[in-house]
Amino acid sequence: MLKSDGGEAPLVGRSAELALLSKTMDEATKGSGRSVFVVGEGGIGKTRLVTAAADRALKRGWQVAIGRAYPVETGVPYALFSDALLPLVRKLEPASLSVLTRGGASELGHVFPYLTSLGTPERASAGADPSEIKARLLWNFTQFLGRLATKQPLLIVLENLQWADASSLELLHFIARQIGEQKIFLLATFNEAERESNPVLRTTEQSLLRLGCVTVQKLTALAPPEVEELLQRMFDANRDTTRHFSALLYDWTRGNPFFIEETLKSLVDSGALSRTNGHWSGWEMQTIPLPSTIRDVIKARIDRLPTDARSLANLAAVIGTRAAHDTLSKVSGLSEEGIIAALDELLAQRFLQETGDADAIHYDFTHPLLQQVLYAELGQARVRLLHAMIAEALESLYGNAASLHADELALHYARAHSQSLAGKAVGYLYAAGRAALQKYANREAANYLAAALEQLDRDPTISDAPRDEILQTLARTRQRLGEYDAALQLWRRARDNAEAQGDRTALADIDYRMGLASYWSGKFSDALSHYESGLAAAEPADPTTIVRLRLAKGIALQDLGRLKEAQAEVESALSLAAASGVENASLLSRAHRALLLLYSWTGPFDLARKHGEQAVAYAEEAGQHMLEWSAHWGLALLAGLSVDAPSVVTHVKRSDELAEQMHSPLLPLWSAEIQVQYLSGIGDWDGALAVAERTISQAKSLNQRMLLPRLYVWSGLIYLWRGAEEKAKEYFDLAWQITGGEKTGSLEGVGARPLDVPSIVPSHLGLASYHLAKGDPAEAVRIGEAGLAIADRTGYIVWSLQWLLPVIGEAALLARDFDRAAMHSARMRRDAGRLNHRLGLAYADACDGLIAWFRDGNHGRAIELLRSAASQLESIPFPPQAARVRRKLAGALVEIGQREEGAKELRKAHDVLARLGAVDELTGTREEMRDRGVRPPPKTITTGAAGLTGREVEIARMVASRKSNKEIGGALQISSRTVSTHLSNIFVKLSVTSRGELADFVRQNGLLEG
Ligand SMILES: Nc1ncnc2c1ncn2[C@@H]1O[C@H](COP(=O)(O)OP(=O)(O)OP(=O)(O)O)[C@@H](O)[C@H]1O
Ligand SMILES: [Mg+2]
Repeated sequence: MLKSDGGEAPLVGRSAELALLSKTMDEATKGSGRSVFVVGEGGIGKTRLVTAAADRALKRGWQVAIGRAYPVETGVPYALFSDALLPLVRKLEPASLSVLTRGGASELGHVFPYLTSLGTPERASAGADPSEIKARLLWNFTQFLGRLATKQPLLIVLENLQWADASSLELLHFIARQIGEQKIFLLATFNEAERESNPVLRTTEQSLLRLGCVTVQKLTALAPPEVEELLQRMFDANRDTTRHFSALLYDWTRGNPFFIEETLKSLVDSGALSRTNGHWSGWEMQTIPLPSTIRDVIKARIDRLPTDARSLANLAAVIGTRAAHDTLSKVSGLSEEGIIAALDELLAQRFLQETGDADAIHYDFTHPLLQQVLYAELGQARVRLLHAMIAEALESLYGNAASLHADELALHYARAHSQSLAGKAVGYLYAAGRAALQKYANREAANYLAAALEQLDRDPTISDAPRDEILQTLARTRQRLGEYDAALQLWRRARDNAEAQGDRTALADIDYRMGLASYWSGKFSDALSHYESGLAAAEPADPTTIVRLRLAKGIALQDLGRLKEAQAEVESALSLAAASGVENASLLSRAHRALLLLYSWTGPFDLARKHGEQAVAYAEEAGQHMLEWSAHWGLALLAGLSVDAPSVVTHVKRSDELAEQMHSPLLPLWSAEIQVQYLSGIGDWDGALAVAERTISQAKSLNQRMLLPRLYVWSGLIYLWRGAEEKAKEYFDLAWQITGGEKTGSLEGVGARPLDVPSIVPSHLGLASYHLAKGDPAEAVRIGEAGLAIADRTGYIVWSLQWLLPVIGEAALLARDFDRAAMHSARMRRDAGRLNHRLGLAYADACDGLIAWFRDGNHGRAIELLRSAASQLESIPFPPQAARVRRKLAGALVEIGQREEGAKELRKAHDVLARLGAVDELTGTREEMRDRGVRPPPKTITTGAAGLTGREVEIARMVASRKSNKEIGGALQISSRTVSTHLSNIFVKLSVTSRGELADFVRQNGLLEG
């Protein structure tokens, strides 16, 4: 007999696939999560396989979330994830929900509107960049899943990705990259043939494959023995009786299980296979009396449906997603009994299945192909009519809440293609577009808005729609998506309209936006001319707009390398704001921040600092965390450039606090970059490397490429100093590639592409340092001077001073090119003096000292200058560089016979270099000591495991400031026992025996903070 009685066939085959899924589950249980995509043609058994996996997971005590995408939902942001996880989220108690979201509920509200309806407070994200908010959303959602899965592993099944919305795919891409250390298994399916119709899916899959974050499991057809087994088990038949038929069936269906099932159902329906006395017969047929494609078999089955069932099925096919009982009864026009009878028929024939939900009963097709064939069979005219009926029925069903269902209503109204309903279509499309924008689902928003605009263009008689508003909203959305050309085209239309209406306010605003679009696509000169025509159009009575335009113009000028003009422009914007009483705190904050950065590159530092403080004050007044963050970040950068260690610490700390408040994953990366420089400078190389490596991997996974070159260079330098030359070279090359190294050295890029000087200069620094260390000073000079040319032409004086000149100077000395060395040193002294730049002054002293020694043979002068350089560097504190200078100083001392003094300097240098693990320098120092008859201290004790770790340095500092183990433990949130373990390691590494000695060591080696 047909065992499963209209139900599912027993599962056959698929043991290799199930084994893979089980294995993935095992790994995830141990905390290494993974993603698997099951792909294959329609009806091949994807759903069946993942359902079997979900059953196993449930048996193992997992949490399981299953979501499906529908063709009509492709436009609804996060529909797929919401479908999958909402049932789990609903079950959570409010208290555990708030623990799991940790204050990120407002972001999660975009995925689960349900959460916002619970009244979780909306946090102010005003002023933040949309891409930042988007990153925050993705990050918080992923964190939420991770926490949800800590106690009980989580399987997320996402079905039919070919229809998934762009936001869900973006989220999936993000999660797939982050779950490597979580108890999460992401299992998705899609129909391979339809993959191409969803470009976002294609790029998502390719990218995850490239990153090695997903396993793609392709499902192939059942093999002949599996078809045979299926028959046996379904019909309880004897193998010999069905052998012939089984071969026939296999040839007919090529082993596609859905086709097999449909064929068998049809054969039973038509009586070709029949049962007498509990035995099935008809197996000896010579051909299969059915159409030869799966679609035609389905068609035939549809044609056999009773009238009411057929029309209800049609309706469900046009609704397109799960259909609620209410909707069906409202649109079908059938009596309640009629509906129930029709539904019973469709359920019995397994066209539909019930999907139970606590609130209402829904019906869904058992298989997407059924829906597709029904829809295609209806014909255009009937489809449109049904969409219109459904649209109106749903609208009246939803009543006051209709706007919350704008997505669904827009779809049906738009597909109705009816002139009389076009106005409604536009209204709902616009509403759906705005709702998507609020969720930062820009792709979906653009699709809705473009569809609305298309309707409007097609039908000029639609009178009650805000045409200009829709046009401009779409332009802004394209801009957010980075589709600048398309945005500019829309803006041009908007501009023509504004011109025709003589609306100067709108004109100025549109020019401002066009300027931004040009700016972001790297066309700075175009941006400038837009800002200028905006300024020409702006009403003099509207100073706020003028200030905004001038500020934007200043920023564009800066990027064109016209720093002085940029400063003048922003300064004049600020004085206009003051004169006309503009009280727009956020605008003022941005203007001051621009000046903070501008003066940071060129000096004077005091002026930069003053603007920074005002930027902070206005940001606080405006209540915009994002602006406040960026002002503190700028101040930290300034502190680094002006070599003010305590301020670096203060501002990095403050920006991290703000980033934490905003739940931002991106912003901490930016302050981490400054911290790496700082730690590297003060000689906490372990700490610097730890932060750098962590930040590099996060920056990669969050796609923050801007930051990478600098991180590679700062950490590459440390590797270089520690003698890991290969690794250093690898990092310098990476930095060089990312900044577009081949093109640097000339300014040709300007105008077409922003020239990112703050990344280009470090890239040059990295390679120049490398060649210097490898003993090729000529190459170091060449690369260094190429970087210098760029920095100089764009006005980035401080960057030259801080990074390039010292290396070029040293390289020139080593190449015995004294004139060149003297020239750079003089330049360094002049700029550093003007800016009061301590590092620059110290380097200039060191350079001049060496010139006095090597070129002039003037040891007295050399010793004086080198001493001064070393002690300046120590007071900054820049102990690693100080140690290098002390080595040279020792040489000069010994040459004039002051052996004792020289030995003392060498010992000081040795201590610091050993602690840092600066391998080459240390070896050189030890050789020098032996040459000079000084016995080097035991290397094993002082060098230890390449000096102190970042944590150890922190502890040592606290000991030096007389803190007890208990106090230290409290500050670092570790037990005092752990503190004492660290301490004994520190004692061994530094060969000190008491806290007092340790404190002395810390002070003598410039390890003290600030
Ligand atoms: N290994 C199998 N053994 C028995 N029956 C199977 C097997 N695989 C699939 N089937 C049956 O075949 C039918 C089609 O399978 P399923 O719905 O899983 O296909 P699918 O690949 O998800 O198709 P689509 O791409 O259209 O969603 C189902 O009724 C299912 O029960
Ligand atoms: Mg399926």
